[in-house]
Amino acid sequence: MKRTLTQRIVTAAWMVTLGLMLSGCGLRGPQSIVDADGPVAEYQYYTFMVSFYVSLLIFVLVGSLIVYCVVRYRHVGEVTPDTPLPDQGHGSTKLEVCLIILSVCLVVVILVPALKGQFYQGTLQDPTSEVLEINVTGYQWWWKFEYPALGVVTANELAIPTGQAVKFNLKTNDVIHSFWVPRLGGKVDLMPNQSNWLWLRSTRDGTYYGQCAEFCGESHAFMKFRVHSLPGDEFKSWVEHQKSGAREVTDPLALRGKELFKAKQCVGCHQIRPAAGGNLGPDLTHLASRTTIAAGQLENTPENLAAWLDHPGEIKPGNMMQAAFLHSSPQPSWRRPWPGWDNLNIALNQGDIDALVAYLRSLE
Ligand code: CUA
Repeated sequence: MKRTLTQRIVTAAWMVTLGLMLSGCGLRGPQSIVDADGPVAEYQYYTFMVSFYVSLLIFVLVGSLIVYCVVRYRHVGEVTPDTPLPDQGHGSTKLEVCLIILSVCLVVVILVPALKGQFYQGTLQDPTSEVLEINVTGYQWWWKFEYPALGVVTANELAIPTGQAVKFNLKTNDVIHSFWVPRLGGKVDLMPNQSNWLWLRSTRDGTYYGQCAEFCGESHAFMKFRVHSLPGDEFKSWVEHQKSGAREVTDPLALRGKELFKAKQCVGCHQIRPAAGGNLGPDLTHLASRTTIAAGQLENTPENLAAWLDHPGEIKPGNMMQAAFLHSSPQPSWRRPWPGWDNLNIALNQGDIDALVAYLRSLE
């Protein structure tokens, strides 16, 4: 069948478009498993590459056989002395046994590193024998991080000491989430009524991106977090700072924001230590020291903070704050933090937002 010029042009256009699209898929990036920076991620990457090469081998073998048969026997139908009909065999015990043995061998090639990796990840490997434990709780759609031995509570951004093994104890406050820091390792699910754990170690200082890797509702894609891997002394000062209470406010606008924080019931869900507060939303004691807000979704700037206070539901659909702001989106009873929640109506005008932003920005 001869192809027309138009068909050829269309095919060429498709190839170019596809090529351009694929060229956008970088292998390197903040969430790339190819850039492993810790032993767990390296092990996972190694296992992945083993199965990739085995699959590639199978692909090439099967693909070449198909191409060979298609080309070699394309004339079947017009049998000539040059192109005879191939042997019409019906099963070959020898060939089948060979294929089974080959398949088993290939499975074993993948199985060995996979099993070794399972045991490696299942046992805390720590050269310094000073294991840091962090309790992680997943919420729709943010992360709470607690350091029980150090008395630190934070949200959506955590720090770890470079080179030291960190044990993450994982639980969820609601549905299933999954903890994943692609360049350090993962993923382990946070299951209702069950505690899971995993350990990670970072071998390089820097900021690593984390992401919830299990569909957990409409804003699942916006449930991100950041891991700051710091040198030992910087980590210690980070801990000291995070343990301390919020800074005293003196600026009049920020002071008004502080009043509004109570008056508008923000305090019902968020704590700013040492004052009492709720724990349904992220602890905000040192909010201004974080690089992002809304669980890694927005850079932590005054403009973004104002936008978040103005229309949180447009930034993160379905979130609890939106429900509180817009009396119009009643929550199912299991998500209602306290009776009367549905009657809460936290409407903020521009002046309120400016004051709250001033206050929250002061919380370094
Ligand atoms: Cu939490 Cu997806």
